[in-house]
Amino acid sequence: MTKTAAVTGATGFLGTHLCERLLEDGWDVRGLSRPNSDRGRLAPRDVEWHVGDLFDEPTLRSLVDGADAVFHLAGIGLWNADPDAVERVNRDGTANVVSACRGATVGRLVFTSTAGTRRPPEEGVVADETDVAEPIGAYQKGKAAAEELVDRYAADGGDAVTVHPTSVFGPGDDSFTAQLLTMGLERTMPAHLPGGLSIVGVDDVVDGLVLAYEEGEPGEHYILGGENLTYEQAVSRIASHADGSPARIQVPATAIHAAGPVAETVGAVTNRHVFPFSRGMARLATSRLFYSSRKAHEELGYEYEPLEAHLPETLEWYRTTVRG
Ligand SMILES: NC(=O)c1ccc[n+]([C@@H]2O[C@H](COP(=O)([O-])OP(=O)(O)OC[C@H]3O[C@@H](n4cnc5c(N)ncnc54)[C@H](OP(=O)(O)O)[C@@H]3O)[C@@H](O)[C@H]2O)c1
Repeated sequence: MTKTAAVTGATGFLGTHLCERLLEDGWDVRGLSRPNSDRGRLAPRDVEWHVGDLFDEPTLRSLVDGADAVFHLAGIGLWNADPDAVERVNRDGTANVVSACRGATVGRLVFTSTAGTRRPPEEGVVADETDVAEPIGAYQKGKAAAEELVDRYAADGGDAVTVHPTSVFGPGDDSFTAQLLTMGLERTMPAHLPGGLSIVGVDDVVDGLVLAYEEGEPGEHYILGGENLTYEQAVSRIASHADGSPARIQVPATAIHAAGPVAETVGAVTNRHVFPFSRGMARLATSRLFYSSRKAHEELGYEYEPLEAHLPETLEWYRTTVRG
């Protein structure tokens, strides 16, 4: 029998890839779209659109009712909005999705949080699902509060699983992916950040979302990560894949730490958001935020590919769409 998926955030980077995959696999797909959302590559596809936002309860109810899977991906980061809105959309938007699920007939809720709610307890250690960290910034605060709401829904008998992608890389992402490629490719951009991160291809995260639906245990959390790389490794592998050029110069951690208070002051005075946004986030930008996907591998069968596997398609997108 054909399965039905309800996807919030369907018009975003990850949501677009997820909907394409579900359609290819034969699912009926419902997508949440705001009136002005750009449906992009999904516009010509056979998605049943439910128009409204995360604060429009009747729309959410019709979106999820009767769905076998509810993939809740909608959320916003600090690049896109002020901290109050970021915390509110991530926390209260999730509360509204959970409430819609409680009041309807739904199969499993798969909530997309972030690996950022977990952190290595010390430098040199790889974080897993148990390394719950004090949230830094509005984004992590909103996601951490949302996780509690989803956990409570599962504890009350609802079927819900939470996934924690690390830094998602792939075509269609104007923020992280475009910035990392710019650091690797642009000769006018000689510097990259100290520290490191886990980079995961968008197709691998989509696999992880589907596996979480199929194989996850209710109430459980799964990190969906990729290769753990220093920025230097990531940038030089991109550069050498593209044209064989050497690694760029590293910005010293002290410079980024110094930028934290400056960003805070500029933000307070002008109401504009300047990376790294705050002292706490300046610290994060210079740390090695490495993650283990072992639990997802062992319990869901999750696998990820190295950065190079994702580069051809992503570079093609970057050259034609971002630089083109
Ligand atoms: N990308 C990553 O590296 C990464 C890593 C970890 C976790 N995540 C999480 O994964 C999810 C998807 O991320 P993404 O990179 O695909 O983000 P994205 O491209 O910015 O997409 C966000 C989606 O959320 C929708 N949205 C935002 N506010 C909404 C609201 N009030 N009502 C309804 N829809 C709303 C957006 O709609 P519009 O199209 O109308 O703007 C868009 O469809 C997010 O929850 C994010 O926190 C992402």
